Amino acid sequence: MRLQDKVAIVTGAGQGIGLAYTERFLDEGAKVVMAELHEERGEIGFNSVQNRGDAMFVQTDIADPASAQACVDAAMDRYGRIDILLNNAAIYMDLDISNQSLDYLKTVFDVNVHGQWIMASAAAPHMAAQNSGRIINQASIAAYLYQSMTPQSAEFPGVSNSAYQLSKWTVIGMTKYLAGQLGAYNITVNGIAPGLTFTEATKTVVPSEAQAILGMMQSIKREIQPEDMCGAAVFFASDDSAMVSGQVLCIDGGMTMPA
Ligand SMILES: NC(=O)c1ccc[n+]([C@@H]2O[C@H](COP(=O)([O-])OP(=O)(O)OC[C@H]3O[C@@H](n4cnc5c(N)ncnc54)[C@H](O)[C@@H]3O)[C@@H](O)[C@H]2O)c1
Repeated sequence: MRLQDKVAIVTGAGQGIGLAYTERFLDEGAKVVMAELHEERGEIGFNSVQNRGDAMFVQTDIADPASAQACVDAAMDRYGRIDILLNNAAIYMDLDISNQSLDYLKTVFDVNVHGQWIMASAAAPHMAAQNSGRIINQASIAAYLYQSMTPQSAEFPGVSNSAYQLSKWTVIGMTKYLAGQLGAYNITVNGIAPGLTFTEATKTVVPSEAQAILGMMQSIKREIQPEDMCGAAVFFASDDSAMVSGQVLCIDGGMTMPA
């Protein structure tokens, strides 16, 4: 087991990729704090891993500093340390792709970008005191897809806010800045950029035409599943990646291949 007795906070752990991370971390011997905004999702996810290992559910809004701090405090109260923060939560299933307003761009950034920073800010002091820690930020290969996936009309529709893509591109930059800051305290910060992964959220949010286009762009021709993300998460969370920081790994079946 590669994460024996490590303490991990996984955000957005109630369903989808966050639940897959939780399951795999428990299988690897970690204790997992499941931080999730939606109470019902959190309870269902937590109940599903009851027999798998030592986990707790803490209802958390990562965009709210007080709530994020309460989550970190709950982890410290129960387990006494925090080794891993997996910043997985984002507005994705609940994304309103039709909303192109500036206010909505800010709403998405509040969670997808600032939420990761808020959680890192709350967890990092404990990691620094331990002189060890692992922060893993969930990005997306959507950051590298600049073109519209929908047919464009001749009439200029106005500038799109590209809220989700822009937020994930910012996560990639923030990962590198945090890595630069926190390395002195033996805290690594890395990112995972999934390709189109067949969670309930993807089936709900991504139009079928876009799913088909993205599938054709993969060099490995099979659907990506949440479990495909877990090997990278365990690597970044484990001692094996002690000297790896500021890296973002695309797990997209060979689609984007950024240099
Ligand atoms: N599924 C994909 O194809 C794909 C591709 C690239 C990146 N991602 C990213 O992977 C992560 C998980 O994706 P998923 O498919 O499981 O999506 P999902 O929407 O099912 O999971 C996100 C989880 O985060 C929770 N959440 C939302 N706002 C929150 C907040 N303020 N505080 C705490 N929790 C909050 C949601 O309730 C949900 O459980 C997201 O960061 C997503 O952007 C997914």
